[in-house]
Amino acid sequence: MAEAVKMIYPAARLRVQAMKEYRPPLGCRDTLRLDFNENTLACSPKVREVLARVSTGDLTRYPERGPVEAVVAAHLGLNADQVALTNGVDEAIHVLFETFLEAGDELLMPVPTYTMYEVYASVTDAQVIAIQAADDLQFPFERLLRAITPQTKIIAIANPNSPSGSVATRAQIVEIAHRAPHAILLVDEAYFHFHGETVIDMVGAVPNLIVARTFSKAYGLAGLRLGLLAGPAESMRWMRRVLSPYSVNSLALACLPAALNDEAYLDWYVGEVIAARTEFEIALDRAGVRRWPSCANFILTEIGPRHAEFVRLMSAAGVLVRDRSSDPGCDGRVRITVGTREQMRQAASVMNEALAALKIKGDAQ
Ligand SMILES: Cc1ncc(COP(=O)(O)O)c(C=O)c1O
Repeated sequence: MAEAVKMIYPAARLRVQAMKEYRPPLGCRDTLRLDFNENTLACSPKVREVLARVSTGDLTRYPERGPVEAVVAAHLGLNADQVALTNGVDEAIHVLFETFLEAGDELLMPVPTYTMYEVYASVTDAQVIAIQAADDLQFPFERLLRAITPQTKIIAIANPNSPSGSVATRAQIVEIAHRAPHAILLVDEAYFHFHGETVIDMVGAVPNLIVARTFSKAYGLAGLRLGLLAGPAESMRWMRRVLSPYSVNSLALACLPAALNDEAYLDWYVGEVIAARTEFEIALDRAGVRRWPSCANFILTEIGPRHAEFVRLMSAAGVLVRDRSSDPGCDGRVRITVGTREQMRQAASVMNEALAALKIKGDAQ
């Protein structure tokens, strides 16, 4: 009998072996999706029109991102060599970290924050330094300043932050950039539209500032995977060495100008979310659920020890929300994306039923 072949599977790098698997709950989401901070309604109808006109040639050719980068740069008031389109902000983060982080470097990030900073930093040989926010989850400005060392290579700030919804001020960002001139300051403005304040106008003038933007949130194009990095041409040149020239696909490139041009749609959706956010805050206050002030399209809430049952009950009633209990300092906390007023009225009524069923009596008042 032939001898059994011994199978050998090559092991991943030690850094990768030490990483936890990140598996966001993406299955069965044909319901009210208040779990991933997406646009809960639709993208601009102008984008649908572009998609309907996609030709065979558009699909057979490799995508050319240059001309669309020029359009986006002009829209942002920047030069084309200051902007790179990416396959979502996730690719932007990955490329930025791969380009700049070496062994011995430190990545500073306030926590809790967006999960993928830690994921991509963990793949590099740099060390992650997490700066825990206080219980109010406000941006830990002073602590972050104190944590800057000569080894600090990147400081990653989501502004507004997720899952807290808190923000760093423009003055704070300028001060951090000034106090860490040897480091890159990444300001991830994924939720910028719901806040209205940006530092993208300082790109180029502040030499270590790099800003990221996404089309996954307000624009409603999460499925197309479109993001961008804006920074000084000198830094962008390094990153273009690492960035795949093909990672932004033809459909995304074709749709982008239409999405940018339909400002009326974007303004309408953002206005709707901001109105819904105020209404939903009132609903949370009435239910006595503690919440954190938010400048984004989501609200972090304190549900307490029965958080997992709460999320399950909401889901069973057709409203998906996100348990953030495993985020640092977030035990018992659930993040609820804000959609339209109509959707949030439905969410409030389902939430009240879930709270009553679980006998969670809010005591935030
Ligand atoms: C702060 C932040 N940045 C980036 C992203 C991801 O953006 P994209 O879909 O463009 O990869 C998210 C998604 O939730 C986020 O919360």
